[in-house]
Amino acid sequence: TDLENLQRRPPVVTIMGHVDHGKTTLLDSIRKTKVAAGEAGGITQHIGAYHVDIENNGKTQQIVFLDTPGHEAFTAMRARGARVTDIAILVVAADDGVRPQTIEAISHAQAAKVPIVVAINKIDKEEAQPDRVKQELTKYNLTPEEWGGETIMVPVSAIQGENLDTLLEMLLLVSEVEELSANPNRPAKGTVIEAHLDKAKGAVATLLIQNGTLSVGDLVVAGPVFGKVRAMVNDHGYRVDKAYPSFAVEVLGLSDVPAAGDEFDVFQNEKEGRTLAAQRTEKQRLSRLLQGGR
Ligand code: GTP
Ligand code: NA
Ligand code: MG
Repeated sequence: TDLENLQRRPPVVTIMGHVDHGKTTLLDSIRKTKVAAGEAGGITQHIGAYHVDIENNGKTQQIVFLDTPGHEAFTAMRARGARVTDIAILVVAADDGVRPQTIEAISHAQAAKVPIVVAINKIDKEEAQPDRVKQELTKYNLTPEEWGGETIMVPVSAIQGENLDTLLEMLLLVSEVEELSANPNRPAKGTVIEAHLDKAKGAVATLLIQNGTLSVGDLVVAGPVFGKVRAMVNDHGYRVDKAYPSFAVEVLGLSDVPAAGDEFDVFQNEKEGRTLAAQRTEKQRLSRLLQGGR
C-alpha cells in the first residue's frame, strides 16, 4: 500500500520577513556556501527553488528553499489552497525589530500551521539588539526556547555568513520532528511554483513535486493545462529524467502556461487528462464571466 512506501523527504522552506531585513542576502549566502562549494561546473539556474546538501553526522541531508518574493507568493498560494511550505524562516533584522510585514508573515505562517524558525539577522551591526527582537516576538506567541518557549531563534549575520550552519541544523531538526514523508513510488503530484512563456521553448513551468516521482514522458495536468513532460531541468541547470518528492524542476512540454499555485497531477490515461484539463478551462472561463469578466 501507499503507507508501506512512505519515505522521508527533505523539508521545503520559505524565507519571509519585513522589507530589507535580509531575506535575499540570507538565501544568497546559504547558496554560496553550500551550493558553490559542492558543485564543480554546475551553473545554478534560477527556477524559483533550489536545494542544498548538508553534511550532518556523516550523512548528507537536503533542504529545498523556495525563493519566493517575500511572503506574497506564499499568500497567493495559500489563498488558492496550496500548501507548499513545510517550515518558514522568519527573518527579523536585529537593528530594526518587529515591523508590519514581520507581523503579517507571522500570521500567515501561523494560520497555515507552518512551524516558524526565527533568524535574527544583522547581528554584526553595532545597533543590533537581538534580545529586544526576542522580547517583541513574545507578543506574537513566539517565545524563544532559552526563555522557556518553543520557538527556535538563531542570531545570524547573513552578510558575514555567521551562524548559518546552526540555522541549517535547526531546520533539519524541525524537519525531523515534522516527520515529513512521501511515496516516491507513485505518480507525481504537486504545485506550480512559477510559469512563463519562452519564445524558443514554449510554456516553461517550475513544478514542486510534493508526492511521487515525475518522469520524462509523463502526462500531466497542471491547473487547466494538459501536457506531456518533454524535458526537465533541475535547480543546478542539469537535465534530469526523474524528479523526486520535495524537489523542483523546470518542465517543458505543457500546452499552455499554468498559474503559480495551480496543482498538478500525473495521468496514465491521456483522454482522462485532456478531459479534466478541458473541464477546468471551462470552469475558469465561467467563474471569470461571473466575476464580471477580466
Ligand atoms: P526585500 O526583498 O526588498 O524585502 O529585502 P530583503 O529582505 O531581501 O533584504 P536584502 O537581502 O535585500 O538586504 C537589505 C539590505 O540589508 C542590503 O543592503 C543588505 O546588504 C543588508 N543586509 C542583509 N543582511 C545583512 C547582515 O547580516 N548584516 C548587515 N550589516 N547588513 C545586511
Ligand atoms: Na531589499
Ligand atoms: Mg529580497
